[in-house]
Amino acid sequence: MPVSLIILAAGKGTRMNSDLPKVLHPVAGAPMLHHAMRAGAALNPDHTVVVAGYSAEAVAGAAVGFDPTVKVVVQDEQLGTGHATLMAREALSGIEGVAVVIFGDTPFVQPETLQAMADSASDVTVLGFQADDPARYGRLVMDGDQLERIVEYKDATEGERALTLCNSGVLAARTPLLFDLLDAVTDDNAQGEYYLTDLPALARARGLSVGVVQCNEAETLGINSRAELAAADALFQNTARAALMEDGVTLSAPETVFLSLDTVIGRDALIEPNVVFGPGVTVESGATIRAFSHLEGCHVSCDAIVGPYARLRPGAELAENVRVGNFVEIKNATLDPGAKVNHLSYIGDASVGAAANVGAGTITCNYDGVMKHRTEIGAGAFIGSNTMLVAPVSVGDEAMTGSGSVITSDVEAGALALSRAPQIEKPGMARKFMDMLRIKKAKQSRGS
Ligand code: UD1
Ligand code: MG
Repeated sequence: MPVSLIILAAGKGTRMNSDLPKVLHPVAGAPMLHHAMRAGAALNPDHTVVVAGYSAEAVAGAAVGFDPTVKVVVQDEQLGTGHATLMAREALSGIEGVAVVIFGDTPFVQPETLQAMADSASDVTVLGFQADDPARYGRLVMDGDQLERIVEYKDATEGERALTLCNSGVLAARTPLLFDLLDAVTDDNAQGEYYLTDLPALARARGLSVGVVQCNEAETLGINSRAELAAADALFQNTARAALMEDGVTLSAPETVFLSLDTVIGRDALIEPNVVFGPGVTVESGATIRAFSHLEGCHVSCDAIVGPYARLRPGAELAENVRVGNFVEIKNATLDPGAKVNHLSYIGDASVGAAANVGAGTITCNYDGVMKHRTEIGAGAFIGSNTMLVAPVSVGDEAMTGSGSVITSDVEAGALALSRAPQIEKPGMARKFMDMLRIKKAKQSRGS
């Protein structure tokens, strides 16, 4: 049976108190919408429709950025989850099968759970969970193994609020039945909204079957406030850390390591305490990321050692056995096997050849205030400490630069380049100078 996926992402998310639409707030470095889309993609849907509304352009951009094949429809006015789902009708017209509706603000629902929803034999199926603290979730009112109705928190009586079986928001229904039932939904409720949650009662009234699939509460965590956003991030981090350790990665203080949705770390890598992985990082097996390092958009190859206190920015490509030490920043630069940049350096828009050694305090001066320029350092080159490499510039294979040099023109392979004032020495001058200063100070204090 063809599967259609509908992702509701039109809401402003009033409780976030933000200009950014709720579904674009990041969890683990990726908008929560991407988490939901990733969860839904596990169903292998034939059609995916994202319903955007508040900041529709930004939401559409994020949706298409994740999967260019999705259809985005716009709900101009956010009249409720039922109304939002109806917006997908045209995009899915003539399609028979099952539609699974998920929320852009519910990022952690698992593939097996969604599959169970799509495979359900009922005409309408709701994903429920037993809540430790049911708070403001909709409550499921059961009638044997059938779901009689869902009551929203704001519409619920005290008795109904005592129910702990809650609505996750995920719902599956046959198409086009889903849309026919939605036509009958009204906004006669406490919030004056068209609720998707009215569907079960409407289906039952027509003698249709309404089942419930249950999952863990952690899967259905809905994000409505900054506090819930933080809680979702914490939950993601714990799960992702545990998965990495299961896959053979050592995290010496797991609770201090922060990961992104797309972080990839190979077996036998060692991650020391207080390391942050922004989006787009791959670390290969056997590499070590030492304490207090920050990585994003970069690739660290086997057996490389990074940090402590290193910063790898987008486009940093470290080959095998590279060393990047403390207080070093690497951006848009490739470091070939065995290259070393160990102390206090900035290497940006550059290539560093195999086994080259970049001395402490070296800077690639890549920006002239308007444009960026490249620096090329050859294999086996030795860059003396505190060299300023004023790009565009290249230093050939096995060339050297003297410490403190400002290198403004290319250095040929094997050459030594020096560009600094020659040292002069004045015998006895230091002592004379100090004596003079002491006499001056003594005179001043007598005078005052
Ligand atoms: C909803 C459910 C509630 C459930 C909870 C689970 C309804 C009426 N209530 O409540 O039973 O326990 O989720 O998290 O469905 N949206 C639109 N257009 C709209 C309104 C909402 O696209 O007009 C989208 C939002 O962007 C969001 C999702 O639908 O991604 C859920 O909306 P939200 O306002 O968070 O619903 P809840 O109050 O959490
Ligand atoms: Mg919600």
